[in-house]
Amino acid sequence: MSDTNSAKLRSRAWFDNPDNIDMTALYLERYLNFGLSLEELQSGKPIIGIAQTGSDLSPCNRHHLVLAERVREGVREAGGIVIEFPVHPIQETGKRPTAALDRNLAYIGLVEILYGYPLDGVVLTIGCDKTTPAALMAAATVNIPAIALSVGPMLNGWHKGERTGSGTIVWKARQMLAAGEIDDAEFIRLVASSAPSTGYCNTMGTATTMNSLCEALGMSLPGSAAIPAPYRDRQEVAWRTGKRIVEMVAEDLKPSDILTRQAFSNAIRVNSAIGGSTNAPIHLSAIARHIGVDLPIKDWEREGHAIPLLVNLQPAGEYLGEDFYRAGGVPAVVSQLIEQGLIHEDAITANGRTIGQNCRGIAIEDEKVIRPFAQPLVQDAGFLVLSGNLFDAAIMKTSVISPEFRTRYLSNPDDPDAFEGPAVVFDGPEDYHARIDDPATGITPETLLFMRGAGPIGYPGAAEVVNMRPPSYLITEGVHALPCIGDGRQSGTSGSPSILNASPEAAAMGGLALIRTGDRVRIDLRKATANVLVSDEELAARRAELEASGGYPYPASQTPWQEMQRSVVGQMSTGAILEGAEKYQRIAQT
Ligand code: FES
Ligand code: MG
Repeated sequence: MSDTNSAKLRSRAWFDNPDNIDMTALYLERYLNFGLSLEELQSGKPIIGIAQTGSDLSPCNRHHLVLAERVREGVREAGGIVIEFPVHPIQETGKRPTAALDRNLAYIGLVEILYGYPLDGVVLTIGCDKTTPAALMAAATVNIPAIALSVGPMLNGWHKGERTGSGTIVWKARQMLAAGEIDDAEFIRLVASSAPSTGYCNTMGTATTMNSLCEALGMSLPGSAAIPAPYRDRQEVAWRTGKRIVEMVAEDLKPSDILTRQAFSNAIRVNSAIGGSTNAPIHLSAIARHIGVDLPIKDWEREGHAIPLLVNLQPAGEYLGEDFYRAGGVPAVVSQLIEQGLIHEDAITANGRTIGQNCRGIAIEDEKVIRPFAQPLVQDAGFLVLSGNLFDAAIMKTSVISPEFRTRYLSNPDDPDAFEGPAVVFDGPEDYHARIDDPATGITPETLLFMRGAGPIGYPGAAEVVNMRPPSYLITEGVHALPCIGDGRQSGTSGSPSILNASPEAAAMGGLALIRTGDRVRIDLRKATANVLVSDEELAARRAELEASGGYPYPASQTPWQEMQRSVVGQMSTGAILEGAEKYQRIAQT
């Protein structure tokens, strides 16, 4: 590396600062103490952080503890110095009340680390659902050269000769248990079979979605997202990622160069083609706001709805992560979209080349798993963004509407895109669990189930609870899904066509706070509207009454962070970020 480049390194302000030699000495001594030499720290070599998200508490990302060794070797070979540090752990399935509460906590912690320590570039280790957006959001705010390394999906799960997908099998097994088809022991066996190795969920859940979109955004090496965690190729890409970040520092290739409006448009389109999670709009909005890109929620419908589903992965399809990798992964999908002119090919990516240069002409290796554009699994696979007097914005993944659901709700020849029914309203998941199977709750096949009190404020972080199963007595009669609407989220591994992420939430006094059990509700998919059929006067009276009683009630905070986040968090349609954080952009720039 030339002197011109090393002179620009921000780490020199810590370790090689002749104007302030006593501070330099103080900074140096403790890093010397952990084993780095004076020559190394003052060599002008870039100091590369490894933001380590793996730990015993985060099993999905734990394999990064192993992969980091290969990243270190890559960084060293390319002439960099490594400092690895922990990121606040997030485990999707283990954190109470919900892992989503911790996305912004990991973000804000990582911002402080990247800004406040002598790091010239960073390898972001990503994987489990919230770890990817948290890391990308922080890299966006700080804007030092950054590259993401996915931990990779688990191997395929198998049970009695059939693929069992992590997360997705839980929804199915719950129905089987409720219908009396399996017992508790078989339930556990079935679910455990879906998680056979290290790595993140092998379905097209939020983890596969966000790791794929990270690659589509250009923030990781092309072809890297889909490599299963235990494969040798995963070790190799860890090493290449380490080498590449050193070059990125030399080139001064920053997140702001990569995370452009074009990159987000590409990601939206890829999300539709892969059948990505309904959590993606929340996280991409958050990343976009922290880098300063305007990405209104309606753009998901405008740019993404008409894109067909090409990737045949559970929950929308049949296959799992290993199959996706063997079929060509993200580059094969992007290549199909490029042929249709649906990708901004000039968007620059982490390897210094454009997405067009990386992906144009990449062939599909297995057309059962990745379909050619002309033979999709589903047309119009993107999200609808609904609005009305219940909320300003909510997301619906129409590509997972089942034939049963379509027959029951969307087959009126005079009104084929709309349905109406009476609401049954639950206030939070505990209320739902307590009453769902009680015949007194009054749920019929015509009912629309509502879940409120589950948004970023109400259930701090926003719970994955909107996809509610019907009562057992309806499942045994063959009713496997009722329309579900709510201000919470749903797991990306769920195949339910719920209307979710409703903003503003009930706890912020959105329209959902006003609906009552028994009200009729009309959903129109063609117009993208959702309305409770109650007069404006009646709704105004209900609002006044609720406000007089102190607003929509939600449980008290249990931790300091819950209280702090509740006081500053925004709504899901705009990323559910810490609102005061948006104005801090590109803060490491000199
Ligand atoms: Fe961690 Fe699914 S629970 S990736
Ligand atoms: Mg999840």
